[in-house]
Amino acid sequence: MTTETQNPKPQKPVILSGMQPTSGLMLGNLIGALRNWVTFQQNYDCYFCVVDLHALTVRQVPAELRKRTLDVAAMYIAGGVDPEQSAIFIQSHVPEHAELAWILNTFTGMGECSRMTQFKDKSTQHSDNVNVGLFTYPVLMASDILLYQANVVPVGEDQKQHLELTRNIAERFNYHYSPTFTVPEPFIPEQGGRIMSLQEPQKKMSKSDPNTNATIFLVDSDDQIRAKIKRAVTDSGTTIQRSPERPAIGNLMEMFSIVTGGQSFADIERDFEGKGYAEFKIALADAVVDYVRPVRERFLKIRADVPELTRIVQNGAEKARRTASKTLRKVYKKVGLVER
Ligand code: TYM
Repeated sequence: MTTETQNPKPQKPVILSGMQPTSGLMLGNLIGALRNWVTFQQNYDCYFCVVDLHALTVRQVPAELRKRTLDVAAMYIAGGVDPEQSAIFIQSHVPEHAELAWILNTFTGMGECSRMTQFKDKSTQHSDNVNVGLFTYPVLMASDILLYQANVVPVGEDQKQHLELTRNIAERFNYHYSPTFTVPEPFIPEQGGRIMSLQEPQKKMSKSDPNTNATIFLVDSDDQIRAKIKRAVTDSGTTIQRSPERPAIGNLMEMFSIVTGGQSFADIERDFEGKGYAEFKIALADAVVDYVRPVRERFLKIRADVPELTRIVQNGAEKARRTASKTLRKVYKKVGLVER
């Protein structure tokens, strides 16, 4: 459902999404989100940001953060985002994100933020640095989305709760003043919305997992990918069949299905009948290597041309600011701030 806004209707519906430059991107990011961004490009007005301000909620090495921010922008393009069609930009280059987040903080309950599972997980992982930014992280995310009047936000399953909070904040603001924000819908793929760790299949694959064997990074070499898949944990049993008691093989089969372009589970089970894990893992490794290699090769080329990448993110920020500043101006007026 989309709430009517007082905005003149944009020509195309709007998409916004983003990723944190906390580490290099990995297979879960590509499968859960990036590959879907690409499919929306033709028919939507798309904004894709690298959320460097969000990354600051966990301590970062400044030089590495700077480098990784451009890495992520380059990876968006390598994954198929066309910078001529979609705005690719860095969150901190559009100051409206932080400004709107402040206003939205005043429309968000302490209880709402403390219920966020990502907050609970991260405050356990980084118990020495449970900062207020980590607590209000989802409010900054709501700001990213609402500034652009996004209709759809393509993300992985783990962001669903943040999207629900974004919708609640938007509805609350619209109700208190008058329709201002489009209430966004999440887009979570039926398959691939939650790719699990290769080492602990009950945990999602994560770019910040300290065990690098658990995660396939998009810059991993063919050999690294093969080695990680070979070492992936499996369940008890030997057959290539999905069942709720066998999350490890289920995860590998889901990956296989996606990277082979949608082969059904029934087909996979049939093809691997009478065959064991070793054979299946070799086939999976080949398929993942073929899926990731072109992305990695494009990434290396794009990342090497820093002036061009800089031009792309500057253009993206200019386009983003034109939209963001309009929304922010409207919000400031509604809440009663004196015009500057
Ligand atoms: P981040 O950087 O953790 O992840 C980026 C995207 O990848 C998805 N994803 C996964 N999908 C499938 N399986 C996995 N194992 C997996 N791990 C991650 C995430 O769901 C996400 O779509 N809070 C966001 C960043 C953000 C954002 C936004 C997203 C900030 N502002 C506005 C959308 C709109 C995050 O931490 O993503």
